[in-house]
Amino acid sequence: MKLFLDTANVEEIREAVQWGVIDGVTTNPTLAAREKKDFLEILPEICRLVDGPVSAEVISEDWQGMVEEARQLAAVADNVVVKIPVTWAGMQAVKLLAGEGIETNVTLVFTVNQALLAARAGATYVSPFLGRLDDIGGSGIALLEDLVALFKQHQLPTRIIAASIRHQEHVTRAALAGASIATLPHRVLKQMVKHPLTERGLEQFLADWRQLSEQ
Ligand code: G3P
Repeated sequence: MKLFLDTANVEEIREAVQWGVIDGVTTNPTLAAREKKDFLEILPEICRLVDGPVSAEVISEDWQGMVEEARQLAAVADNVVVKIPVTWAGMQAVKLLAGEGIETNVTLVFTVNQALLAARAGATYVSPFLGRLDDIGGSGIALLEDLVALFKQHQLPTRIIAASIRHQEHVTRAALAGASIATLPHRVLKQMVKHPLTERGLEQFLADWRQLSEQ
């Protein structure tokens, strides 16, 4: 499973890219608005920093507007993937964009049927929102497991991005369920390397080494 960063913050992306574990970035209008800058100014920089797909979302609600925005976003850099909500207008736009060779990431997916529609329309990626489903008493991981089974059974080439990841257990379960990608907030990625026994073990190794060199 590849790891993407779910942020529009350039500093977070720069740091995670330096750690050497990031294969792409996803953004959404909320994350972009948090940066308090024109997103079209930030997007080229993100695309330069990351050697992999960068999802940028349309905000139009009609298919014509979505397609127009998608073409503008795709023209920013070769690695832009256009994020489109799972609506009928969205499906129509995805179909047209697939015909033009523009990659899409269908977002706000909460059911198997929504994912099936996205795949039939020709989406490159589909993004089930695990955390938001958990928030209303559902199971994001159960949905993800169903999507992995569905895509395998019907040999659908659309890749699954586990999104709305809230904690490390989501990452572990998404990887074991067979998601192609998980997109993580910087906070969750940062925690992944940590374990109290790793810290304690490292302290002990260094203390023992210092003791030897002081003898
Ligand atoms: O980028 C889409 C998704 O990851 C949003 O997550 O935490 O706002 O539910 P969240």
